[in-house]
Amino acid sequence: MDQPIGVIDSGVGGLTVASELMRQLPKEELIYLGDTLRCPYGPRTCKEVIQFTWEMVDFMLSKRVKMLVVACNTATAFTLEQLRQELPIPVIGVIKPGARAAIKMSQNLHIGVIGTEGTINSKAYPNALKDINSNIHVNDLACTSFVPMVEAGVLEGPEAFKIVSDTLTPMKEQNHIDTLILGCTHYPLIRPIIQQVMGDKVTLISSGEETALQVSTILGYQKKLFNGDRAPMHQFYTTGCVEVFEEIANKWFERPVARIENISLGVGTRK
Ligand code: DGL
Repeated sequence: MDQPIGVIDSGVGGLTVASELMRQLPKEELIYLGDTLRCPYGPRTCKEVIQFTWEMVDFMLSKRVKMLVVACNTATAFTLEQLRQELPIPVIGVIKPGARAAIKMSQNLHIGVIGTEGTINSKAYPNALKDINSNIHVNDLACTSFVPMVEAGVLEGPEAFKIVSDTLTPMKEQNHIDTLILGCTHYPLIRPIIQQVMGDKVTLISSGEETALQVSTILGYQKKLFNGDRAPMHQFYTTGCVEVFEEIANKWFERPVARIENISLGVGTRK
């Protein structure tokens, strides 16, 4: 089936999931949309996150995607169930795959979760983890300054280190956690700093790998994988500044990303 897979995020964070999809499903074409203009979603109300996510979804439906990946934890926490009920295509989020990946890794069942305030307040991660194993101990922490820092393109250097180190102090003090979920798709972009701050006894988990595996399983089961031969032409869209998006994308993919376009989403058009 040669329809693309849609990937949405509030900004550049979902690129960390998109790159895993490209690695695991190299023949599949992706359409990526980052709502950079209205990022961060983390401090927004549930109503706003739902509204903005639906606007991204409408854009994806207009592109006739065969599957939707909500590559944003905040949007997953607030909208996944609704999207699954209302959309005619398979929809997957990043929270359950992240929880599953962490459970596979943890030896002592003490798991930390960092994310946006929206994701942390929703308790979506503790619920997902405890649904799988009720003996798991979860420590969670909202890291409000990470997303604005990443969206500004600050991915390394002393300023980034100080922000990460100061923010993670309470999590570091939980010195029994052996696994830390990067519960925001922006965080893998600053993974080396987070690892340096947390120390190498803590395994960091990003949900990209497990999410891509699940996409491949679902499309395979539904016989919707592309089975010809091609070099896919991915398309990237941002509601914000193309140049900043491009700089971060090129750094992440370690090569220039073709075709990034600016689009506007219909603010307030969906009821
Ligand atoms: N990448 C989004 C997430 O995983 C960032 C959220 C935000 O925009 O604050 O939650």
